[in-house]
Amino acid sequence: MARDDLIGELMRQQKSAVDAAQAGGGHAHIVACLGHGLLPSPPEGHAGFVATEMVRGVDLRRRLKTGSPPAMALVTRWSAQLAAALAHLHARAIVHRDVKPSNLMLTTAEEDIVLIDFGLAYRIIEGKTDEARSMRVGCAGFMAPETYREQPCDVAADAFAFGQVLRRLLWHARPPPFSARSRAAALALKWTLLPSAATYESVHCTVFVHPAWPEAHTRTLRACCERQPERRPPMARVAEEFGQRAVADRTGGA
Ligand SMILES: Nc1ncnc2c1ncn2[C@@H]1O[C@H](COP(=O)(O)OP(=O)(O)OP(=O)(O)O)[C@@H](O)[C@H]1O
Ligand SMILES: [Mg+2]
Repeated sequence: MARDDLIGELMRQQKSAVDAAQAGGGHAHIVACLGHGLLPSPPEGHAGFVATEMVRGVDLRRRLKTGSPPAMALVTRWSAQLAAALAHLHARAIVHRDVKPSNLMLTTAEEDIVLIDFGLAYRIIEGKTDEARSMRVGCAGFMAPETYREQPCDVAADAFAFGQVLRRLLWHARPPPFSARSRAAALALKWTLLPSAATYESVHCTVFVHPAWPEAHTRTLRACCERQPERRPPMARVAEEFGQRAVADRTGGA
C-alpha cells in the first residue's frame, strides 16, 4: 500500500473505531469524543484529528511515578474498569492497540480510570487483513508478541497490554522481593531497542509474581501475558471477575 493510502486507511480505522465506541452513549470508562475530521497539513496533504473531552486528573504513568503505592483494592478497581472499557470495545470488534499507563487517565479523586487515545484503534473485519491491521504499532513492553511480529491484530492484543498494565499496578502495590541488581538487569533488558521477537517474548511474557498478591490477580496476569493470543482471557470475563472482587472490597466481603 502506498504511504498516502496507508495513512488514509489508518484515519478511516480511527474514525470507525471512535464512532463505534461512542455509539449508544459511549462508556463510563472511555473518553467521550466530541468530533473528528481532517485538517490541511502540507506537505502530506491532510492530517486526521479526534477531539475528546478533557479528563480532569492525572494519567496513570505519572501517578505511578510520583504517587504513593496504590492500595490493592484500588488496583482491583482500576483493573475492573479498564477490563470493562476493553470489553465494550471488543464487543464492537475494535482493538485499541495502545493500552498503557499514559493512555489511562485517573479522575481527580483517583477513584476511576478513563481510557484515552484512539490514534491506533482498529476495527476488525474478519477475513480482511490489510497492511494497517498487521503494523508493528504501539509501545514496546505493552505491544503483543504477534503485533511485534507484524501479524494481523486481534482483540487479544489488548488483553496482553492489559496484563502488562496489571503487572505494573501489582508491582507498585506490592513489589516482588528481588534484589536491586536483578531489577536493574531486568530493566536494562526491557529497554533494549528492537530486540529479536524471541527476546521480546522472553522478556515480556515471563511473569514474576509475589506470593502475597491475590491468587485471582496472579492467574489473570499469567493468562494475559501468554504468547499465544488464543490463550489470553476475554476481557468481559476479566471485567466480571475483577468487578465482583472490587464490590466485595467495598462492602468488606471476602
Ligand atoms: N482527553 C484528555 N484529558 C486529559 N489529559 C489528556 C487527554 N488526552 C491526553 N492527555 C494527556 O496528554 C498525555 C499525552 O496524550 P496522548 O496520549 O494523546 O499523546 P501521545 O502522543 O499518544 O503520547 P503517549 O505516547 O504518551 O501516549 C496523556 O498521557 C495525558 O497525560
Ligand atoms: Mg497516548
